[in-house]
Amino acid sequence: MENSSDVIHQAAEIIKEGGIVAFPTETVYGLGADAFNPLAVARIFEVKRRPYFDPLIVHVANPDDVKKLAKEIPPHAKKLIERFWPGPLTVVLLKKEDIPDIVTAGLSTAAIRMPNHPMALSLIKESKCPIAAPSANPFGYLSPTTADHVQEQLGDQVDLILDGGPCSVGVESTILSFLEEKQSLLRPGGISLEEIESIIGKVEVHPVGEERPRAPGMLPRHYAPRTPILLDWNEKDLDHYQGKNIGLLAFQEAKNHLKFHHVEVLSKKGDLREAAANLFAAIRRLDALDLDLIFSETFPEIGLGRAIVDRLRRASHSITSPPLVGGNKGERE
Ligand code: TXA
Ligand code: MG
Repeated sequence: MENSSDVIHQAAEIIKEGGIVAFPTETVYGLGADAFNPLAVARIFEVKRRPYFDPLIVHVANPDDVKKLAKEIPPHAKKLIERFWPGPLTVVLLKKEDIPDIVTAGLSTAAIRMPNHPMALSLIKESKCPIAAPSANPFGYLSPTTADHVQEQLGDQVDLILDGGPCSVGVESTILSFLEEKQSLLRPGGISLEEIESIIGKVEVHPVGEERPRAPGMLPRHYAPRTPILLDWNEKDLDHYQGKNIGLLAFQEAKNHLKFHHVEVLSKKGDLREAAANLFAAIRRLDALDLDLIFSETFPEIGLGRAIVDRLRRASHSITSPPLVGGNKGERE
């Protein structure tokens, strides 16, 4: 078996030569390229079929590197960086001119984070450049939390996949922006709002589905499996879909499990961190079963529950009458 430092070395060579490499972080797997090589970054957009209006996060291996990328670092951003980096926190700051436009979709800002995974950090250090990386999934689909997930969907299109095991956090980083002296949450994620507010005070929060997404990629429908997910449902809906193949995404226990074809329990002990870490892999397993529909329980919107509910809302957005369940259109109203 190849030694992990050999593979990382090989991966860094690929990045330096303008290639693209999938790599593990503590949140989800990323698909990375040299942030200062616009052609390499363009390949990421092509492979993911990602619209060019959706900017990428720039990953660094040292908190000080933020100074090379951002024009200024407001005191609150600095405090959070000191407290949470390396970790699942992305800060959006005014960018320096030399970051290529393709990375930031022409915005005057850049999203920057230092991931907390030894392989990611070694890769960035050895590549000797910041690495621009979105999650390593086709645009709109769930993020990968294992190297196998990446292999299944993008395997033949990337130059190398680094396998660092399953991601420990399992949902993407929290994105905070610090523009015009306002601090706002663009995406709930691996660091909870409570933890952030305990350090910098009140943060503006924007609900899912608002007209103009603050983070250009935060579309109302996103992070979605192929099978429709239904989030707001009640017992009556179950009878209604009798005879259909339905899966359940449950928090702690499998209620009504006899009625479901398959049940995924995210955390038997009711721990939201554990549930977040299991979320995407569980949805992928359900998605692989050719079900007509996935029912999802809701989760408490505290701590990591906020990120879980955000992803589930987006995954289920505009599914009120599942297209695969024929003849039921409109009957839920
Ligand atoms: O945990 C994560 O953040 C993972 C790992 C790989 O680091 N990355 C990730 O990247 O989730 P991606 O591209 O899937 O999501 C990044 C989000 C997108 O919604 C994008 O629109 C937003 O960050 N974003 C990037 N640059 C931005 C900017 N300058 N202003 C506002 N939003 C930005
Ligand atoms: Mg993504």
